[in-house]
Amino acid sequence: MPHVALPHTGTDKAWRDAARGLIARRVPPDEVTWSRGATEEDLFAQAPEQVAQTRATLKVPRDFVSLAGSVVWHRDPERFARLYAMLWRLRSEKGLMEDRGDAALAKLRSMEKAVHRDRHKMTAFVRFREIGARDLPRRRFAAWFEPTHFTLEPTAPFFARRFADMDWMIATPDLTAIFENGELSFAEGQPKPDIPEDATEELWGTYFRNIFNPARLKVGAMMSEMPKKYWKNLPEARHIPEMIASAGARAEAMQAAAPTLPPLRAAKITERLAAPGVVRAMADDLDQLRAEENACTRCPLYENATQAVPGEGPRDADLMVVGEQPGDQEDLAGRPFVGPAGQMFDRIAREAGIDRSRAFVTNAVKHFKFAPKGKRRIHQNPNTGEIKACRFWLQSEIELVRPKLILSMGGTAAESLTGSRKGILSRRGTVEETPEGVPVFLTVHPSYLLRLPDPALRDDETEKFRADLKSAQAHLEELRAS
Ligand code: URA
Repeated sequence: MPHVALPHTGTDKAWRDAARGLIARRVPPDEVTWSRGATEEDLFAQAPEQVAQTRATLKVPRDFVSLAGSVVWHRDPERFARLYAMLWRLRSEKGLMEDRGDAALAKLRSMEKAVHRDRHKMTAFVRFREIGARDLPRRRFAAWFEPTHFTLEPTAPFFARRFADMDWMIATPDLTAIFENGELSFAEGQPKPDIPEDATEELWGTYFRNIFNPARLKVGAMMSEMPKKYWKNLPEARHIPEMIASAGARAEAMQAAAPTLPPLRAAKITERLAAPGVVRAMADDLDQLRAEENACTRCPLYENATQAVPGEGPRDADLMVVGEQPGDQEDLAGRPFVGPAGQMFDRIAREAGIDRSRAFVTNAVKHFKFAPKGKRRIHQNPNTGEIKACRFWLQSEIELVRPKLILSMGGTAAESLTGSRKGILSRRGTVEETPEGVPVFLTVHPSYLLRLPDPALRDDETEKFRADLKSAQAHLEELRAS
């Protein structure tokens, strides 16, 4: 019976290669055993490269590839075998990935969810402590974390992007991630190292105590967001017991000190929520909306992006500009249209008489969707599900800003705003409406111009784009005057 010993790192690719090889050799699931890392009993184990020598061209649903890409990091020793059994069945069972009643698939889905959750917790709860002198060219940090699953390897690139300008190490019992001079590598796991507290710890504690609202204390929700097992490695968590214990008295004191008249803003919110067509709770201002967008998990895009990129501009702007999604630079800066497409838009908008500083500039999708390629992050178009999931935020921005006109740039913005996926080239220069009746002027996306390889064509298209923006501005002026 073949036994496959997968390596400690690169386990996902090794599993895929081995599984393909086994399928090509028609080895049924009950005739193969799997492990991660060789043990003494594995002396006769085969390395994945050996198993993978016979390659088959095997077509599997994308959904399975993504499921397997998560489940391999689960701690269940049966995970590789479960995935292989599913792959084996996929050869003959069409539609298996859609079968909600299939127990084996349901188990894999719940494992996938557990891995997603574990990765998310890691991005939220790793706390770095500074370990080097502050005047080094690259500051040095270290963190200790205890993930539930083997999630350090797939999550480390997130930290590499976010903390690209410092050197750091994240140690876990299974694996250590090391980021030095921009290179990410892995070493064996280790027992908890003795990392001395640093000055930021006190700062964290103060910040945490200050953002805590005793009147909103929900111990159940808090424990589910920040389970107790993480507390021991979170410097701020030492304040939690005292904060819970004193919450009642502090909330009462807040109530006693509260003004007796409701704040003016409350009346405005009540009025707006009572308006026809408003059927759900909404953020009451743009700052709150930004905070809510940043906590969004409505679709998986938040998992790899650095942060959400909310719209920006005056609260009373009468022009709203909507693009597709943040790009690489926007994702890092947390601001829309600051990269090459944004600079191109700024220039042509200025020439067309549009003042960007008076417009509210935003995107149909708030998180950057990309595929990693070496050190680069390659833009990917958001799909209809992601556009729909993010429509809530765009709609909230429209309702708060109440623009007279929306300038929609590119197919994604047009789909989100009008619900129609018809090609943008045949609709550009025309005005349609959102389902709520806000006029939408349609044009192409500036990055379309940047991608055109032929300079003459690019000049022509740039001219057309400038003409579109001029028409949009003229239309806005008509609306202002009416
Ligand atoms: N492209 C967009 O659609 N939006 C941005 O914010 C940047 C590039």
